[in-house]
Amino acid sequence: MAGLVELRNVTMDFETGFFGRRKRVRAVDNVTLTIGRGEIYGLVGESGSGKSTIGRVTLRIYKPTRGRVFFDGVDITDMRERELRKMRRRMQLIPQDPYSAINPAQTIGEAIAEPLVVHEKMSWREALEAAAKALEEVGLTPASDFIGRRPRELSGGQLQRAVIARSMILRPDYVVADEPTSNLDASIRASIVKLLLDFKERYGASMLFITHDIVLISLIANRIGVLYLGQLVEEGPAEEVVDKPLHPYTKALLTAIPLAGGRPDLEKVYLRGEIGDPSNPPSGCRLHPRCPFATEKCSREEPPLVEVGKGRFVRCWLYSKS
Ligand SMILES: Nc1ncnc2c1ncn2[C@@H]1O[C@H](COP(=O)(O)OP(=O)(O)OP(=O)(O)O)[C@@H](O)[C@H]1O
Ligand SMILES: [Mg+2]
Repeated sequence: MAGLVELRNVTMDFETGFFGRRKRVRAVDNVTLTIGRGEIYGLVGESGSGKSTIGRVTLRIYKPTRGRVFFDGVDITDMRERELRKMRRRMQLIPQDPYSAINPAQTIGEAIAEPLVVHEKMSWREALEAAAKALEEVGLTPASDFIGRRPRELSGGQLQRAVIARSMILRPDYVVADEPTSNLDASIRASIVKLLLDFKERYGASMLFITHDIVLISLIANRIGVLYLGQLVEEGPAEEVVDKPLHPYTKALLTAIPLAGGRPDLEKVYLRGEIGDPSNPPSGCRLHPRCPFATEKCSREEPPLVEVGKGRFVRCWLYSKS
């Protein structure tokens, strides 16, 4: 079964700074990944590792510097805005900050109804009726209490529900959920995740779920990709990556969490210092300055991403010979 979304050897550079002080940041470095139909792909990594950039490249909000982007078998890398617009109704982004997703001047009802007016040429009256139904579906009830409110008149959790209603109203085939709960209280995170999963189940969408939280992602994803400084360092079926992590970075992510009972089965891996500078990444293996297992070779040569089992990939000299 071919994937719904595919990145092939995608690199994304950003130019920052100005005049004599321009700097190139390689946010994503040669990433290849496939998101299967109906699958939840969990992308995990520290802040600055390139997660949001990958999400935006899959939606062709960003055009990659190198590499190809496929959606439903179609190469959309060089697609023009007009054609992309037709594709975009099948793809949605749920961003980290719900306040950035909705125009503050619109009412919640208008925000949810708008995609139906734009893409389905519905009348506003019909679209607002559909929006009221959608509000009920995401638990903002009675809808009449919410439909006329402005975004700032909702709590963060309520607004994220409204953003989800808007994202789902066109029944997308693919949704990027970019840390959809990171700005919310722990107490309401679980209900938002559940809402997303319910939608995914009901409409069979594929999802890229982006998070710092490897435990959360292990509970919901089918497959996990672990990102470090723009590179995939480990990828595989979720339960395998979490039960038997291979890469020292994945082990560090898993053993750094004070879980009830911890992970006595795993040797604790402590990393030194902080994530490096993506505009000037370390030589060799990018983790080597922080890695307790690093050898001289690790500082010199970049390890390749190698397949060590079916669909199981790791980028580390501990697992590859040449
Ligand atoms: N539009 C941009 N212009 C310049 N640099 C950017 C841009 N977007 C991202 N970057 C840089 O690319 C790198 C990766 O950023 P990205 O936002 O993808 O990381 P992330 O993994 O989503 O981080 P976080 O967990 O904090 O959201 C960072 O160094 C960031 O500063
Ligand atoms: Mg991000």
